[in-house]
Amino acid sequence: MDEMKQGRREFIGVSAGAAAGIALAGGLPEIARAQSATISRQGRGAIAVASGNGLEAVRRAVDGMRAGEDALDAAIAGVNIVEADPDDITVGYGGLPNENGIVELDSAVMHGPTHRAGAVASIRSIMHPSRVANLVRTTTDHVLLVGQGALEFAKMHGFKEEDLLTEKSRKIWLLWKQKMSDVDDWLPPPKEEVDPDLWNMVERFTGTIHLSARDAQGEVSCVTTTSGLFFKIPGRVGDSPIIGAGLYCDNRVGTAGSTGRGEANLQNLCSYQAVEFMRQGMGPSEAGLEVLKRVAENTNRSDLLDEQGRPNFGLKFYLIDKQGRYGAASMWGPADFAIADDDGVRKEAAAFLYERD
Ligand code: GLY
Repeated sequence: MDEMKQGRREFIGVSAGAAAGIALAGGLPEIARAQSATISRQGRGAIAVASGNGLEAVRRAVDGMRAGEDALDAAIAGVNIVEADPDDITVGYGGLPNENGIVELDSAVMHGPTHRAGAVASIRSIMHPSRVANLVRTTTDHVLLVGQGALEFAKMHGFKEEDLLTEKSRKIWLLWKQKMSDVDDWLPPPKEEVDPDLWNMVERFTGTIHLSARDAQGEVSCVTTTSGLFFKIPGRVGDSPIIGAGLYCDNRVGTAGSTGRGEANLQNLCSYQAVEFMRQGMGPSEAGLEVLKRVAENTNRSDLLDEQGRPNFGLKFYLIDKQGRYGAASMWGPADFAIADDDGVRKEAAAFLYERD
């Protein structure tokens, strides 16, 4: 790897000893294009890719497509497993709440064969927002319902309101309030009395599941679902329910979606752009890296940059093209993603733009 003129280091990697350490000197030069194209792999049969928390989801999605389910139905059934999992604090039941302790969820779906999408944002008390998003797609002329309207719509369709805050997520949220400031009246408990796992979770991460699916006939679809930024301002909507940002597919080209800092993605419409890059001939990983590079170039707030001028946040993309090539790209590596196809269910290394020290 070489220093760039601007003093920034950028490189593409897939894993230690593989393609790591290709230096880029402004733009995305040919060497990077060639390298990243080789790290998009060819899948076999029905294929699903997802964020690392989606191993069971991709398994379920591929099983469903093999059994004849539409790719979107199979994808939604896959992420429903994670939405219902109380141990995943980034999605659905057990997701971390907003700053007032209320879980607010965002989700969207997009169906390649019909090019129709549906989404809900800031919806409360519904464990499976992806199913509600799909009903927006199939039963209305709209694409996005938010807040109380989305909840009323879900209840009209028979969804039950549930308390999504688990004991674990309540404790993490309370600890966040207690630790947040030394100029308020909250006193944090002694660190030694707190489960270290909980203590560390008080950092403000974003977590999500995105799942992109392609059936054996080459039809593509995608879904993203999340509880969004930990301890967000109530009403904050991330990238996940925004078509073109948190997910996008075009049945003639492929499918893409994201996890990570939604605000960065919203300001660059990366999933749409990644699919467009695939339309221009890039492989999935290459397209993901190219949009990450765009995000890095457009990030200029000093609080979002590290001392070397690199974005200090995480953002990842998961992609499949119509031909069945697949990949993932991460702002920071090493990083992995979940993949299922005829070669099995597994985690693979994602391409990345910057390597952690
Ligand atoms: N990407 C998830 C969020 O920012 O809410």
